[in-house]
Amino acid sequence: MNQPIIRVVDLAFVRYRTNDLEGMERFLKAFGMTVNTRIGNTLYMRGTDSDQYIYTTELTKTPGFIGPSFEVESMTDLEKVSTSFENAGDIEKISGPGEGYSVAMLDPDGYDVQFVYGIDKLPCLNTRDALSFNTGTKKGRTGLFQRPTAGPAHVKRVGHLILRVADFDKSMSFYQKFGFTLSDSVYDPKDDSQTLVAFMKCNRGAKWTDHHTLGLARRTPIAVDHTAFECLDMDDVVLGGNYLKAQGYQRAWGVGRHILGSQIFDYWRDPHGFKIEHWTDGDLVNMESPVTRVPAGEDGPGAISQWGSISEDYLKIYSEAVEIGPEK
Ligand SMILES: [Fe+2]
Repeated sequence: MNQPIIRVVDLAFVRYRTNDLEGMERFLKAFGMTVNTRIGNTLYMRGTDSDQYIYTTELTKTPGFIGPSFEVESMTDLEKVSTSFENAGDIEKISGPGEGYSVAMLDPDGYDVQFVYGIDKLPCLNTRDALSFNTGTKKGRTGLFQRPTAGPAHVKRVGHLILRVADFDKSMSFYQKFGFTLSDSVYDPKDDSQTLVAFMKCNRGAKWTDHHTLGLARRTPIAVDHTAFECLDMDDVVLGGNYLKAQGYQRAWGVGRHILGSQIFDYWRDPHGFKIEHWTDGDLVNMESPVTRVPAGEDGPGAISQWGSISEDYLKIYSEAVEIGPEK
C-alpha cells in the first residue's frame, strides 16, 4: 500500500456543471438544500450543518461532473499536495463564500480533484429534532407523538461519492496517497482477483468516520456513479422522497438499506440524469474496524442492499451524465 502524503479529513463539497442553472436550483431546493449564494455563473448550495456549501454547479454549454473537493488538515498539507504531484496546481484563494484555499489536479480518469482548507463556517440552520424511536425492547418516547412535517428533506452535509474508474489499481493508489483506506471491498465471484467496488474511509485514526467517503467502482461508462447527502433521520428521507416525487422528479432506487455502510437510502435523478442520494443511519468506523473482502452476489454481504430490491434504473448511467472534469 502507498504511504499517504496527507490524510484527508472529509469530503467538503462536490462540483457539477449545468446548462440550466435555474432548473438545477429548483431541483436542489426540492432535494433539500438551500442557496448560499450565486457568484457569477456558479451556484453555491448549502445543507443545514455549518459548511458554507456542499454542492456547486456552474453554467456551461454541457452538463457534467467536475470533481470532488476534499477538506485537508492544514495549509502545510495543501503545500504538500501542491509540491508532491507534477500535475498539481499552486495554492489558490477560493473565490466562493467563506473563501479559504485550494489546490487542484486531475486524477487518472480526468476528474478534477480539489483539496481545500480554511473555508469559514456558518451558523447551522434550524431544523426539527431527529425522531427517537420506540422499539420492541426500548420505549424511550412516552407521552410524545411522532409528527414530522411534510416537505423537502433536511440535507445536513455531503457524505460520499462513488466514482467509476477505468484503471482500478491506478485510481486506488492515487487516492491512497491522500489517506483513503479500505473499509470493505466487493470482488467478482468468477475471478477473485478482480475487485469490483472499493469502499474507502478517511484515515482519522481512532476517531469515528463514515464507513465510506469515497468509493471506486470498476464499471463502465467512466462517470460519477453518484454523490450522497446525509439527511436528518429515516422519516426525513421518506418525506423528502415524497416531496421530490410530487414535484415530478424521478426516483432511481429506494427506499432501502445497504449492507456495506448500512445506510437507509433513496436515490434520485437530477434534471440531467445524475444520480444523487439521500441517506441516513450510516455506519461509523475507525482504523480499528474490521476490513472485509466479499464476493458480489444476490445473497450475503456482497449484495447491494438488505431490503429494498434493486431497480433496473439504478445501474444505468444516462448519456447526458458522462462528462467529467472541467469543460473541454
Ligand atoms: Fe451511496
